[in-house]
Amino acid sequence: MPIHDVLIFDTTLRDGEQAPGNSLSPEEKLRLARQLDALGVDVMEAGFPAASEGDYRSVVQIAGEVRRPVIAALARCHERDIELAGEAIRPAERGRVHVFISTSDLHIKDKLKTTRDDVLARARAAVRQARQYTDDVEFSAEDASRTDPEFLCRIVEAAIAEGARTVNLPDTVGYAMPEEYGEMFRSVLARVPGADRVVLSAHCHDDLGLAVANSLAAIAAGARQVECTVNGIGERAGNAAMEELVMASHVRGPALGFRCNVDTREIYRTSQLLGYLTGSFPPPNKAVVGRNAFAHESGIHQHGMLQNGLTYEIIRPEMVGIPRSTLVLGKHSGRHALERRYRELGYDLTDLQLAEVYRQFSALADRKREILDEDLLALVHESFHDAPEEYQLSHLRVVCGSITPTAEVRMTGPWTGERTARGTGDGPIAAAFTAISEILGRQIEVLSLSLRSLTPGRDSVGQVFLQAKVDGKTLSGTGASTDIVEASARALVHALNKAYHADRLEASSLNAVYLWGV
Ligand code: KIV
Ligand code: ZN
Repeated sequence: MPIHDVLIFDTTLRDGEQAPGNSLSPEEKLRLARQLDALGVDVMEAGFPAASEGDYRSVVQIAGEVRRPVIAALARCHERDIELAGEAIRPAERGRVHVFISTSDLHIKDKLKTTRDDVLARARAAVRQARQYTDDVEFSAEDASRTDPEFLCRIVEAAIAEGARTVNLPDTVGYAMPEEYGEMFRSVLARVPGADRVVLSAHCHDDLGLAVANSLAAIAAGARQVECTVNGIGERAGNAAMEELVMASHVRGPALGFRCNVDTREIYRTSQLLGYLTGSFPPPNKAVVGRNAFAHESGIHQHGMLQNGLTYEIIRPEMVGIPRSTLVLGKHSGRHALERRYRELGYDLTDLQLAEVYRQFSALADRKREILDEDLLALVHESFHDAPEEYQLSHLRVVCGSITPTAEVRMTGPWTGERTARGTGDGPIAAAFTAISEILGRQIEVLSLSLRSLTPGRDSVGQVFLQAKVDGKTLSGTGASTDIVEASARALVHALNKAYHADRLEASSLNAVYLWGV
């Protein structure tokens, strides 16, 4: 079977980010964009500029700073959307405008409340307008898998005639079966003149758990681009998982007939970074990146693995960037050992960063006997938050048990010296939060809080993720410590730093004129 190159179009920052609970700040988006660049994705959909001013600015920033991949911006077939998307990708080395419109009768009648002819005309006009900004225009027929095949062919033909270079046929609601989805690509290729000269793209949602299978069926039928997200995040049940598609090509390339350019050793780091940024990690049994993906529990399996790793492992952890630990770090480990382990984990720290991480590592080693890779990853994410640390927690003391829990908190911030406050609550975390809110004089409502233990054992580090509404704005924060009250307080302080930073950005943008909203 011939092996084809398939482009990886990552939409974590757009389809992934728009799902509930995944919203990211502009700094977080840029950080993830840089990691997606290191991963080697071919196209990165950076956002939907018409959705908000924040989205617009974020696409502009990514387009200006991430130079290698194609940077795509999404737009409905509306003049204003296309104008915003076209302007947002202007700074890119290679920018793409991605226009979409629904093509199924269900969507045309009940969502758009219009006719097929109108949709066809809008699609033509949109591609033509997008071409004024770039030669790289992608057209998506939303709900393609439930679209009348005749009409689908007509609209694809029109988009190609107007100059679209990529045509995407999404399974928007995750309804298609692999056979049917593949057949749609075959039919478009056979019936639409010029379809073989553009890149056909697959975009699958996972409502029936078939997003990856459908994407593979599309590739077998001629698709040369797949749209996917890290950890499979996305609307409802999510999108096709990037790591599953990439590893399928890596492990079963000859059987599937395709390869892609992603550096598989960056997969785990990208997955973890996304987890830290959104506060939501893949389930333990998630293929390729789940905590148990490489764990062998049963005696028979362990025995087989000891004889030959290939007995029960088709992917070696190193292939996706999970290095096998060669040394255990602890209280007596020095800076060099720490630096070496970080390098093995793929982090090249500057002297300043190493000094900061080492300070935190030593504090942790006083509380915890063995420091494992998961602890090191948490330390590095903790130490280099994206928002400047205007607020810092300098002291925390809680008293709890069979009395009303009370907390005493001391903090530094954009004021001189330290401020101290005491608070009470239903539990020690609530008491600490009351004291922090008192110090800042801000309304804080905690919307969700989750805790995960990073490593086994009683001295494990607890990682807290929370979402809080600060003066009406929803923000997320993370914090880690062997003490879960401290981890929670740190997570809240992290969210407050983001709120402070966002307020300042907003204040500075009041004086500037942006294209968005004009
Ligand atoms: O699922 C979908 O149809 C989409 C389009 C906007 C490409 O996300
Ligand atoms: Zn989608």
